[in-house]
Amino acid sequence: MATCGNAFLRIRYRLAGQVLRYVDRGTVNCGQARHVSSEMERGAGGRSSFSGVVATVFGSTGFVGRYVVNRLGRVGSQIVVPLRGDEHDYRHLRPMGDLGQITPLEYHLKDVESVKKAVRHSNVVVNLVGRDYETWNFKYREVHEEGARVIAEACREAGVQRLIHFSALNADPHSPSSFLQSKARGEELVKEAFPTATIVRPADIYGHEDRFLSFYASLRGFPFHLIPVLDRGNLTHKLPVYVGDVAQGVVNIISDQTTASKTFEFVGPHSFVLRDLVRYIYHVMYRQCVLVSPPRWAYRLVARTLELSPFVPHMTRDILTRLHLSNKATPGVPRLEDVGVSPLALEDKALPILRRYRDFLHFDRSLDELEAPNKS
Ligand SMILES: NC(=O)c1ccc[n+]([C@@H]2O[C@H](COP(=O)([O-])OP(=O)(O)OC[C@H]3O[C@@H](n4cnc5c(N)ncnc54)[C@H](OP(=O)(O)O)[C@@H]3O)[C@@H](O)[C@H]2O)c1
Repeated sequence: MATCGNAFLRIRYRLAGQVLRYVDRGTVNCGQARHVSSEMERGAGGRSSFSGVVATVFGSTGFVGRYVVNRLGRVGSQIVVPLRGDEHDYRHLRPMGDLGQITPLEYHLKDVESVKKAVRHSNVVVNLVGRDYETWNFKYREVHEEGARVIAEACREAGVQRLIHFSALNADPHSPSSFLQSKARGEELVKEAFPTATIVRPADIYGHEDRFLSFYASLRGFPFHLIPVLDRGNLTHKLPVYVGDVAQGVVNIISDQTTASKTFEFVGPHSFVLRDLVRYIYHVMYRQCVLVSPPRWAYRLVARTLELSPFVPHMTRDILTRLHLSNKATPGVPRLEDVGVSPLALEDKALPILRRYRDFLHFDRSLDELEAPNKS
């Protein structure tokens, strides 16, 4: 048994060495991955096979990261997981690839050498690093601009074939949100350093462990079912997109060479007025909600106070601004459909995500009894 296991490991290591030699010679091209890797491809195309893609996924410990790693692992990719925390941060990612396919690597965004080391053997790099709020150590500029530039430059130096950089929908240097301003500048820096990078701008992403549906669900404990939403949510339009679709979009971008140098906007199939969306969330949860519009200054004052939290601030003034900004897709910019993904409707996924917020009396009620939310 042990001999059999050792033989299996030897084959894997030999295979990995073969891939790295190809990458070092710069011959692996993800667009051609299927072609070039015909020599390297092993297996029938599942998790235990090898596709020829060696991907470094920065930000894989986050919400979107686990879905991207899973989808890449499912098609037999080798994945480098750069970590800045401890090894437990990637524990949940380990079963997403076959033995030896998921490789953790310590790095720090301000340590250029560690970033270079993380991309050295990869033909694909996905940059998911982002932060909703600023911390003492990292301001938006350092994460979304400097960090993105360092990763893009390291990719160029290492001869990486494909870089997929995550920005955000409505990233704009003139946005009222500092987060979106820094995302826009980050895009420019990435394009300067790595002109063929593919930029992905997702709308608000929902799924298990998200910070969108779960945020509104987390307000369910407020007295008298009062849910604070500026202007009662009448002026904000959202295009929420499912995280599984976003991850599949990334995998499809990697396997399609024509997506290099393009910008994609990953948005959901339907637009909702925030008012209807919040009502729907509470409808699925079988809970009452009364939308109230606190004065903007009062809401901002609360957000300012919460910013002082020494723990994760679930609300800051910038998050408040973004919550009430409309998602606007740019006409003519390619979307998920252009890489072969049909985005799921919110009502197809809302129940499994929100069921946990129901009380026990309604826990088992099925989706058939629920209406779809109004579309705007
Ligand atoms: N989720 C959304 O609705 C949404 C919408 C639009 C755009 N986006 C963008 O999509 C990307 C992925 O989003 P997400 O929801 O997965 O974000 P997330 O859950 O907050 O995860 C962010 C990832 O970035 C890493 N990170 C943050 N600051 C870092 C730093 N200073 N140095 C090194 N790593 C750092 C985190 O590492 P640690 O685990 O070590 O903290 C984590 O792996 C981000 O760029 C985000 O801005 C997300």
